[in-house]
Amino acid sequence: MRKLLPLLTGTPHAGGRSALTCRYRCGDACFHEVPNTSDNEYAGDVIASALSRRSVMRAAAVVTVATAAGGSVLGAGAPEAQAATAAQAAARRPGASSGARGLRFTPVAPNTADEVTVPRGYAQNVVIRWGEPILRGAPAFDPDRQSAKAQAGQFGYNNDFLSLLPLRGEPGRQILVANHEYTDEVLMFRGYDPENPTREQVEIAWAAHGLSVVVVQEEHRTGRLTPVTRHPLNRRLTATSVFELTGPAAGSDLLKTSADPSGRKVLGTLNNCAGGTTPWGTTLHGEENFNQYFANGSTATDKRYGLGSGATERKWERFDKRFDAKQEPNESHRFGWVVELDPYDPDSTPRKRTALGRFKHEAAQPRLTDDGRPVVYMGDDERFDYFYKFVSSKRMMKGNSRAAREHNLTLLDEGTLYVAKLTGDSPAAEFDGTGRLPGDGEFDGSGVWIPLATGDVSHVPGMTADEVYVFTRLAADKVGATKMDRPEDVEPSPRTGRVYVALTNNSQRGTTGKPGVDEANPRAKNKHGQILELAEHWDDPAADGFAWRLFLVAGDPDDPSTYYAGYPKESVSPISCPDNVAFDAYGNLWISTDGNALGTHDGLFGVATHGERRGELKQFLTVPVGAETCGPVIQNRRVLVAVQHPGEVDGASVEKPASSWPDGPGKLVRPSVVAVYREDGRPIGV
Ligand code: FEO
Ligand code: CA
Ligand code: CA
Repeated sequence: MRKLLPLLTGTPHAGGRSALTCRYRCGDACFHEVPNTSDNEYAGDVIASALSRRSVMRAAAVVTVATAAGGSVLGAGAPEAQAATAAQAAARRPGASSGARGLRFTPVAPNTADEVTVPRGYAQNVVIRWGEPILRGAPAFDPDRQSAKAQAGQFGYNNDFLSLLPLRGEPGRQILVANHEYTDEVLMFRGYDPENPTREQVEIAWAAHGLSVVVVQEEHRTGRLTPVTRHPLNRRLTATSVFELTGPAAGSDLLKTSADPSGRKVLGTLNNCAGGTTPWGTTLHGEENFNQYFANGSTATDKRYGLGSGATERKWERFDKRFDAKQEPNESHRFGWVVELDPYDPDSTPRKRTALGRFKHEAAQPRLTDDGRPVVYMGDDERFDYFYKFVSSKRMMKGNSRAAREHNLTLLDEGTLYVAKLTGDSPAAEFDGTGRLPGDGEFDGSGVWIPLATGDVSHVPGMTADEVYVFTRLAADKVGATKMDRPEDVEPSPRTGRVYVALTNNSQRGTTGKPGVDEANPRAKNKHGQILELAEHWDDPAADGFAWRLFLVAGDPDDPSTYYAGYPKESVSPISCPDNVAFDAYGNLWISTDGNALGTHDGLFGVATHGERRGELKQFLTVPVGAETCGPVIQNRRVLVAVQHPGEVDGASVEKPASSWPDGPGKLVRPSVVAVYREDGRPIGV
């Protein structure tokens, strides 16, 4: 194991990330005032108020009914959990390569190695690096001869969300879609001067943001993947590509600018963090910390979305006035949406779906209701912000006909947008901020989905439907949504229908002047985060009630405030700051972390969500110095991860790198996608 690099010993920042990460990734969000200063109550206050005892019980009763489509729900899990205890004790074999099907590997120990560490018997390959050419005519990457034109044909920077889609007619090939969340100029350009970026550097950064579509080839008999350069489906979308605004708010006055009087045509997508893959074969991409790209914010809505009042870190406003909110006050309204991309049609214009609301979209993961309508779950990643869902009014058409594909591309334009309000079932007095379990043994309760708008109809007094979509945070403030500990990625279980929401951390929970703890957010100065499990009543998607419980309260298992779904804590890996989540085919949840506050590197973990090993969590890999683990995709023969911002450590630069991953000393550090597979070619974790 390598020793900690000296550069790592600086003051850790919120969530364990470096100041460099904070600056470039989210515009120092943690150092600014929390944007949600609404006096909207939170779950700790509502035990005895908004929901009557009777309605709470009704909601709980609703969700204990198992449905054919959704499988078991929370209520059905309790006896299962009890029965599991004895079996768990018998099955406990710490460190052994036993485990739930799909998780039978020897856990990787927490470490600070400058590499991707994988379990014994597993191998890895770098699938694609920042700067590798994917389009016809794009040159090979040359760190000293970068250009915007070259970058526009090369894989972008800071890969985050990943999706792999099937490619019929081309055996052994799949389509990889990747988000490129943001750029780290000091790690990209030799001699970068943050006060005086050049036009070329800024234009390279525009081209390094956005999305990539690249066909990948599987190697026969292993899980290894390599890119197919110049494939006709390969595509780059950047901060200057054309996107279309669709849905109820498209064309609204709030979305018109001097360059686009139609309010429907936007140049670019920014800060695409996590995302989702739809059952109809498209991908969804959350525009997250878009606020940091806009200078001179001044309005109350700018403030609620975190736009700063001065210059931006990257100074883009010097090169395009649309990034200056004083000159183009509506341009920022055209970011903060969920983008839908059809990777099968390289000529299609990707759409920003206004029906899904505007906030700092971490991710958007759909599943279908019993009658075939998509429900999309979405987190707003900011301290004390909210968790949302959208329910389409249209049914998905099955099949791959042209009519089906055209119809399905309209599913996310019509429906109802909701925000979540959670209520705990234990007395508020039982929550002292330490994370001690309440008397009933669980952080759990019920919740309601509060409708915000349906098509052109607003459900929020004092706001038009357009205002609800464009200023969704303000709409949710008004209706009393629950202030959460940074809702990140979300994933419904394909096995049980339960929905898992990563709440990554919240350093300000319970501090002076800030919302206190509640049953869903039970720890003060929450460093390590938690995962919420939510069960809906699937055959009635219009039902307003759900049940919830905390599945995981993260941290060192020796820390009494941690909770692993009741599984014996001496048999689990430590985990901190859950961020991206994905399911494997067996119903295990895979969790990647962002900003491990335990002092070791970020990683990827698998945990059983049902059966006798529910809660048994094992670490599968770790990432290099300064990196975050993103975009996990778990397939039968491979695990795919995006290694984001390697070497992003305070004081690091091109001249003074903190990491030499992936190509060794003397080479530029490059964010890259990595495939992990078994040396013997067999399925993962069996
Ligand atoms: Fe881009 Fe919320 O992480
Ligand atoms: Ca409880
Ligand atoms: Ca994330």
